Amino acid sequence: MAIHDVAAAGPQDGADISESAISGAVYANNFSPVPSPTTATGLRTEQLRRRSLGVRPQARIAEDFLVATRYRRGSPAASLSMAHYYTDSGQLMLSLQGKAEVFGWERVGLPSGPRLKSNLGTVIAERRSCRKFTGDPVGLGYIATVLRAAAGVTSYARVSLHSGGETFIQLRATASGGGVYPVTLYFAANQVTGLPRAIYSYDASGDHLWRVGDAAELDRLLASFAAPEDIISLDRAAAVMLVVGEPWKCMRKYGDRGMRYVFLEAGGIAHAVHLAAVGLGIGGVECAGYYDDEANEALGFDGLFEAVLHAIILGHPGEETTTVGG
Ligand SMILES: Cc1cc2nc3c(=O)[nH]c(=O)nc-3n(C[C@H](O)[C@H](O)[C@H](O)COP(=O)(O)O)c2cc1C
Repeated sequence: MAIHDVAAAGPQDGADISESAISGAVYANNFSPVPSPTTATGLRTEQLRRRSLGVRPQARIAEDFLVATRYRRGSPAASLSMAHYYTDSGQLMLSLQGKAEVFGWERVGLPSGPRLKSNLGTVIAERRSCRKFTGDPVGLGYIATVLRAAAGVTSYARVSLHSGGETFIQLRATASGGGVYPVTLYFAANQVTGLPRAIYSYDASGDHLWRVGDAAELDRLLASFAAPEDIISLDRAAAVMLVVGEPWKCMRKYGDRGMRYVFLEAGGIAHAVHLAAVGLGIGGVECAGYYDDEANEALGFDGLFEAVLHAIILGHPGEETTTVGG
């Protein structure tokens, strides 16, 4: 039933049904904005369907994405693409993941950092989004612990090669579809003791940082966030963790479906960042509210082969005024 139909009917059964209450109920029940004149709830009568006929169809990109990335039986292209990863050259490629030479960036060492000692159950129970920060700096050691907890190399797999011999594949703290690790953690060091204000990427393989952007680029990155200062005190945050994806690392193996895995891994890494921060007494909020083009430009990404997928803003917890954000 369309909203205006309900509203026109007036209060029913003596109940005081205002239009805003109805609108609220409709939104809460998955308001479905299909074509504009058919403002409707999940329940669509045949009359409503008929009224929708002839309306210019609109692109449904998000749903098309779900359909286009379904895993279907009997796809030779999918099977062959995946099979390559179980050949010697595929295994050797995986053993070289993250070991590319980097030119033109300054390499920055990481200290050992405090150990995460908090009980996992306690950390899960205590995790809450924190949007107000004191402006006090966070030590580089704390950042190092967070990076390692979310994206650090934690183990190695020994792999026997068909041609004889063996190789080793690095395994990380967060699971990765097929172990191809298409997601990298970057961070904007706004107020981090021991680090100049700049943008850094975490090299998991070498357990060190690369300085990939200067203070001006950091400011451009911070300016790309859409959250108003009274909701998230970004200026007083210590660091903004940036979850960066290179989808083709995964799509090369899994095709378009690989994009799903990139998002899933990004979520896993973001959650690990958040939990590790809580375990260290650092506040944080996941924040997807940034203008993609501006964030990508600040980092020099094209937004396709390399793109900012998510962000987690970290800092010493200040006085909280907001409980639910974007
Ligand atoms: C993918 C994702 C994106 C989010 N984006 C924002 C955001 O842009 N701004 C914000 O204030 N909070 C953001 N949040 C935090 C949610 O608002 C928050 O997790 C939710 O209100 C539940 O509160 P809690 O984290 O304290 O449990 C985001 C959370 C997730 C998982």
